[in-house]
Amino acid sequence: MGELTDKVAVITGASRGIGAAIAQELASAGIRLVLTARRQDRLESLAAALPGNPAILAADITDANTAERLLALATERFGRADILINNAGILRVGPLETFDLAAIREMTATNFEAPVYAAYVFARAMKAAGSGSIVNISSIGAHLTAATVGVYGGLKRALEIFSDSLRIELAGSGVRVGLVAPGTTATEIFSDMKANGQPGWDEYVTPLQPADIARAVRYLLEQPAHANVARMHVYASADAH
Ligand SMILES: NC(=O)c1ccc[n+]([C@@H]2O[C@H](COP(=O)([O-])OP(=O)(O)OC[C@H]3O[C@@H](n4cnc5c(N)ncnc54)[C@H](OP(=O)(O)O)[C@@H]3O)[C@@H](O)[C@H]2O)c1
Repeated sequence: MGELTDKVAVITGASRGIGAAIAQELASAGIRLVLTARRQDRLESLAAALPGNPAILAADITDANTAERLLALATERFGRADILINNAGILRVGPLETFDLAAIREMTATNFEAPVYAAYVFARAMKAAGSGSIVNISSIGAHLTAATVGVYGGLKRALEIFSDSLRIELAGSGVRVGLVAPGTTATEIFSDMKANGQPGWDEYVTPLQPADIARAVRYLLEQPAHANVARMHVYASADAH
């Protein structure tokens, strides 16, 4: 994509954490933004603090028509969508005896079905336009096998395989698909673990900051049209995995 000024990006999970940092990074590159998450108040305060008057949509990413509404909003406000950042995600872990079985469906809907659905919706429009970039936020957990985290890691692995498949299907179309896999990053994603009496992973190492992941996303987007950095894993330096 190279030159980013005046491109139009849709960012999911933008109300906090990594998504909010990506919004800040891309806004500073002159990209026009559509920001989405469920919490309108957080989206409003973030949008008010960013240049370029971002559009916001408060919606659940697992709802059937959220992706279509995001594409329509980007088109209505800015004329098109050049970039989709599939970032919204949740983390639910726990031992066999106490793992909340409802979390299987919730994580599958949020971490896999929703980004896959949105990727299809946006990729169709981008392919028709002859250009675009889709970045899926995975996790280093996609490649780590450990007890109690199988659903989260398995879904991230599935998202990576889907990303690669879509990248291959779109090769030569002008639409690039890539992924950024963060390591342990200081965000509120660990609140659920901590509320259940488990230590958050961010307590074991000096974690990455959301801005570190946002820089990686920007790097993917800045590549010239003939280059696709399709996979970037970002580890905390002290992480021994
Ligand atoms: N932090 C880490 O260490 C780490 C490591 C590897 C990968 N990741 C990945 O990075 C991504 C961002 O995580 P984060 O650490 O920034 O987490 P976070 O601080 O908990 O933020 C998650 C974001 O997703 C949104 N979201 C969650 N469920 C949603 C739903 N059903 N519909 C719409 N929006 C929803 C939340 O907004 P609302 O609550 O307002 O809807 C929030 O903006 C995730 O895909 C995560 O798996 C994080």
